[in-house]
Amino acid sequence: MDMIAPPQEVATERFFQDVAAGLSAASKSLPCKYFYDQRGSQLFDQICELDAYYVTRTEMQIMQSFAAEMAAELSQTETLVELGSGSSVKTRLLLDQMDRLAVYAPVDISGEHLYQTAIALKRAYPHLDIAPQSADFTQPISLPEHLPQDGVAAYFPGSTIGNFEPDEAVKLMQAIATTCGPGGELLIGVDLAKPEEVLLNAYDDPQQITAAFNLNLLRRINQELEGNFDLSQFRHMAIFNAEASRMELYLESLVEQTVSVGEHEFQFSAGERILTEYSHKYSIAQFTDLAAAAGFTIEASWTDDREYFAVMLLRVLGR
Ligand code: AVI
Repeated sequence: MDMIAPPQEVATERFFQDVAAGLSAASKSLPCKYFYDQRGSQLFDQICELDAYYVTRTEMQIMQSFAAEMAAELSQTETLVELGSGSSVKTRLLLDQMDRLAVYAPVDISGEHLYQTAIALKRAYPHLDIAPQSADFTQPISLPEHLPQDGVAAYFPGSTIGNFEPDEAVKLMQAIATTCGPGGELLIGVDLAKPEEVLLNAYDDPQQITAAFNLNLLRRINQELEGNFDLSQFRHMAIFNAEASRMELYLESLVEQTVSVGEHEFQFSAGERILTEYSHKYSIAQFTDLAAAAGFTIEASWTDDREYFAVMLLRVLGR
């Protein structure tokens, strides 16, 4: 299936509905998937370069150290499906080592980004069939019939799984299990629990890039949905919720104010917060349980010296 990206009006209408629903609720929230417009994606790239944001650097070190071992574990894989844009250095480290691989299928909702990725990867890996799929990877993906349906593995780096609540994460991994089929595999990046001060520094960095990233969501609403948020009247907040083992990002209203989005008005009291993101931090044992609930067993896992991050290889039960 080659899903066609929704026309712009449909996407904008959906964005508006999600914003209106989130800001009308008793506890206000906005979905974190809307962080990533062009400016938001640029800011996220800057976050990944920050000293304070250990996530990208640590995952990269693990891939550099162990990509060959991972590829050896994935030696029967003919088709690698990557969830997300898939142009990164991490992916290339893996592709460089996978001798039997015939097809690389990056899956992303954004058709344009996929197209650019596909061109660049075809140049670098002319022997591979590069089969980009424009689709929502939270749903099972039917690979085109001409591609090998056996020996399918998925790669889901970046610890994006942590941005889903555990029950949603299980559903997403069930969808991945359906995509891979019985015996299929999933190589996934998981951010691990660690000292609170490390997390607070990563999600409220001294350069205030994460603050700009969070506030950019309001700028995007202003731009795309005719909103009138005054960004100087909100502040970025990052809190560690120890009970749920997750970072929580908020935008806090500094004053009592009314904000309009299109024809709709939303009231804020001083100190009221909009929840914008959860980022769950697991132990290997907790993630093993989550994976089991989605129908996977753990085959292997690789971590860094400080055990800040893990790349885990899971297999779909049933073969
Ligand atoms: C994309 N995701 C894994 C990031 C995270 O760390 O949860 C998003 C992010 N939010 C703030 N900084 C980075």
